[in-house]
Amino acid sequence: MIKAGVVGALGKMGKQVVKSVLEADDMELVCAIDVLGEGTDAGFAAAGKECGVLIQTDIKNTISTSKPDVIIDFTQPNGIFEHVKTYMELNVKSVIGTTGLNEENINDLRNLSEKTKTGCLIAPNFSTGAVLLMMFAKQAAKYFNNAEIIELHHNQKKDAPSGTAVKTAQLMAEVNSNFTAGNCAETELIKGSRGGTGSANIHIHSVRMPGYIASQEVIFGADGQIFKIKHDTMDRSCYMAGVLLAVRHVYNNNDFIYGLDNIL
Ligand SMILES: NC(=O)c1ccc[n+]([C@@H]2O[C@H](COP(=O)([O-])OP(=O)(O)OC[C@H]3O[C@@H](n4cnc5c(N)ncnc54)[C@H](O)[C@@H]3O)[C@@H](O)[C@H]2O)c1
Repeated sequence: MIKAGVVGALGKMGKQVVKSVLEADDMELVCAIDVLGEGTDAGFAAAGKECGVLIQTDIKNTISTSKPDVIIDFTQPNGIFEHVKTYMELNVKSVIGTTGLNEENINDLRNLSEKTKTGCLIAPNFSTGAVLLMMFAKQAAKYFNNAEIIELHHNQKKDAPSGTAVKTAQLMAEVNSNFTAGNCAETELIKGSRGGTGSANIHIHSVRMPGYIASQEVIFGADGQIFKIKHDTMDRSCYMAGVLLAVRHVYNNNDFIYGLDNIL
């Protein structure tokens, strides 16, 4: 049995993760942590059925007493770098869904993972469709010199652009460093009109709107043709197969991984 703990257990993603862990035959929920709702039964909050694991607020104490094999973190961008450092310093393996880590943070955490010999998997997106979108975008990037990314999310999302958009641009940049080649000189009459620029000068546009969960489109263009790849999340359950796969991988291995594509 894999002893799992969930941090951010009362959030939109955290509740789905608690439910999935409780339903998994090979996992046991040993702790649930959130800054809110101390003492709430995590199973009741997630699925309307008590499981006996109560929400605690202190990460270090809770991990030390409940001794999870794997911590799953879906909290918020501001504190996530410190959270992952804490897990590694406590020698607890972790699966990180929280977004907001930049390239420098990822490199620092990779080094700390090696130093502390503590496995960790960080994925900006756990849905298979979105991971395939990233893989296909990388393939297509070899054949087009013009591409832009549009990501659309619910209006409670705290970071922009999305971690998926950043990672997509990074993957595309691995095979082509020449995007927007041939564009004429531009003047932005309204600041930000052309979006932000990610790796290899790829423009990224972020839309925030009630009604959306998470969508992303990559548009490639060349003379006489437009090629689009799109993924829509209709329900947060789409992330759960990827999260559980990551938990099993991290439990059985001790490496540092950035991106679910590496274990699919
Ligand atoms: N990797 C993926 O596939 C994926 C998918 C969806 C969302 N996300 C990311 O997951 C994160 C959470 O998203 P959400 O929609 O569930 O957000 P949310 O705001 O609904 O939930 C976050 C939860 O974390 C708690 N929290 C905040 N800071 C905390 C701390 N320091 N310690 C413990 N708990 C803390 C909050 O109280 C809240 O219950 C975001 O960064 C989001 O971008 C990732």
